[in-house]
Amino acid sequence: MRSNFWQEQNTPSFSLAPMEDVTDTVFREIVMRNSEKGKLNLLFSEFTSTDGMYHEIGHDKVKHRLQINHSEKQILKDNNVKLIAQIWGKNPEKYYKTAQYIAQETDFDGIDINMGCPVKNVVKSGCCSALIQEPELAKEIILATREGSNLPLSVKTRIGFKEVVTESWISHLLGMPIDALIIHGRIQKQMSEGLADWNEIAKAAHLRNQLAPHIKLIGNGDIISYQDGLNKVKQYGVDGVMIGRGIFKNPWMFNPSMTDIDEGTKLKMLWEHTELYSQTWGGNKNFNILKRFFKIYCKDFYGASKLCHQLMQTSSVDEVKDALENHKINSKIDEN
Ligand SMILES: Cc1cc2nc3c(=O)[nH]c(=O)nc-3n(C[C@H](O)[C@H](O)[C@H](O)COP(=O)(O)O)c2cc1C
Repeated sequence: MRSNFWQEQNTPSFSLAPMEDVTDTVFREIVMRNSEKGKLNLLFSEFTSTDGMYHEIGHDKVKHRLQINHSEKQILKDNNVKLIAQIWGKNPEKYYKTAQYIAQETDFDGIDINMGCPVKNVVKSGCCSALIQEPELAKEIILATREGSNLPLSVKTRIGFKEVVTESWISHLLGMPIDALIIHGRIQKQMSEGLADWNEIAKAAHLRNQLAPHIKLIGNGDIISYQDGLNKVKQYGVDGVMIGRGIFKNPWMFNPSMTDIDEGTKLKMLWEHTELYSQTWGGNKNFNILKRFFKIYCKDFYGASKLCHQLMQTSSVDEVKDALENHKINSKIDEN
């Protein structure tokens, strides 16, 4: 059995949230390269469909979500960061098989079940946050996953579906054989709107203390900086925090001593990201996915918006290189 890293985590632990089209092997590596050792503890894959994994055609379409580059493996090891595969679906048998596959065929350290995604078509099919309304099925899914592998197991969920039901839903999950519970302080109906309710997360932490002190409890929602994460751990009694969109505002989030990021550092990260993305995925993934990141790196320096505009027109790694070189030349001309 691989070690139960959840029990070995120091408090507080910091995680980068699972994010579709964001937390692939490439971005995870880029974030780690730019983090201070010890400040980022847990990483999650993009959510991976258990139906897709056991579908003849679907399999090839989803398995890239579980890809881990060699270079990522090395940096995970060097920094003692644990990597967790997030899975979703509705059929317990497929969870069982997917868990078996992850344990036997991949190097993930743990498994996380998505019971939080609020997106309409996912919820319509009874998956993810819809499971909040199906506690018995949620239980079957957890038990099947547990049976399929002995990897550490967590559940990521919300505080309710149409209304807040922290007490009943979280108490139910705390009775399950899981190692950690990650709570996003919104209900399904809110999607990503309004503010996450950290008082409900604190209520969940209190329930955990009473019902299942061995289960780690991680809070999630609206954390904007490393210091903000530390403050929330103290204030709300959680064991750790998970950060999602905060990384878009500051990709150096897990390197809190880096406060003033200069243009050179930003463009170096942009280029490293583009190069690794292209080496990893070649033509197999849409190049446009990178454009979200270009906007993140091209901010707050002279000529940033012009460069960003040019990068939005690119469709290959060579075109990105040209745009960066033109930017350098133009900046020099403007300096003189
Ligand atoms: C682009 C994007 C993709 C996401 N994909 C997933 C996902 O695959 N699995 C998941 O559990 N949550 C997903 N989420 C939700 C985040 O993990 C997180 O719970 C949410 O953004 C709240 O945290 P934050 O306020 O720190 O962003 C996604 C969020 C964003 C913005």
